[in-house]
Amino acid sequence: MVIRIAAVGDVHLDKDVVGRFRPALDELPEHADVLLLAGDLTRHGTESEARCVATEFGGLGVPVVTVLGNHDHQCDQVPQVVKVLEDAGITVLEGDGIVLDCPGGRLGVAGVKGFGGGFAGRCASDFGEPEMKAFVGTTTQSADALSAALRGLDCDVLVALTHYSPVPDTLAGEPLEIYPFLGSYQLGQAIDSAPTALALHGHAHAGTERGTTPGGVRVRNVAHPVIKQAYSIFHLGGNLDQAQVSGVGGSGIQQTWS
Ligand SMILES: [Fe+2]
Ligand SMILES: [Fe+2]
Repeated sequence: MVIRIAAVGDVHLDKDVVGRFRPALDELPEHADVLLLAGDLTRHGTESEARCVATEFGGLGVPVVTVLGNHDHQCDQVPQVVKVLEDAGITVLEGDGIVLDCPGGRLGVAGVKGFGGGFAGRCASDFGEPEMKAFVGTTTQSADALSAALRGLDCDVLVALTHYSPVPDTLAGEPLEIYPFLGSYQLGQAIDSAPTALALHGHAHAGTERGTTPGGVRVRNVAHPVIKQAYSIFHLGGNLDQAQVSGVGGSGIQQTWS
């Protein structure tokens, strides 16, 4: 049995984008059991933009699960944004998880926005000024929450959903100088602390689709500018030890973007 996951991130909706994704989304239930959104749903995180997200991604006929991105925090309206999304039936994860009963088995999704910090040999450290400790501490807290959420889910297939990247592989194409602001190795360690089958993230618009954590978990950057389609489909099958990822990017749901 197979669990079919559709995913996209960084749709950055506002009024001018509403309707662009919907034709492909209306067909989504034929191709996927769930839609996962990897954050940056809005441009500036306003309640009004969140209503655009609710219009575009609400009422799809399959569960929709999301994390927020840094853009969704910009206007300090996170509680209002979350309420609008949840009123539309969209589950917002931040340091927690959900188990969905799909025809192919129980899918566990654990999610956090995540944060920056960089990667092995080139990362920020918990040393010096309080501001630096706060920066690194934010990432540590986020990674610890992701690890606990992943390990707490009782399911057949486990997926990690973040906005920031857990690995540098999927940042290839971005300037090296901004890698520390695009993700953190600590998220990768959290993903590797559980039997995660697939890790999905966004944020790196100029990045690369495929990567792998040091522990061998497949990572996919599903930022819309990277996948260049309404969503990618991932087929996950088998038990946790034998989970397979297939059909990556091959949904056949190509969309023309103006
Ligand atoms: Fe983005
Ligand atoms: Fe972002």
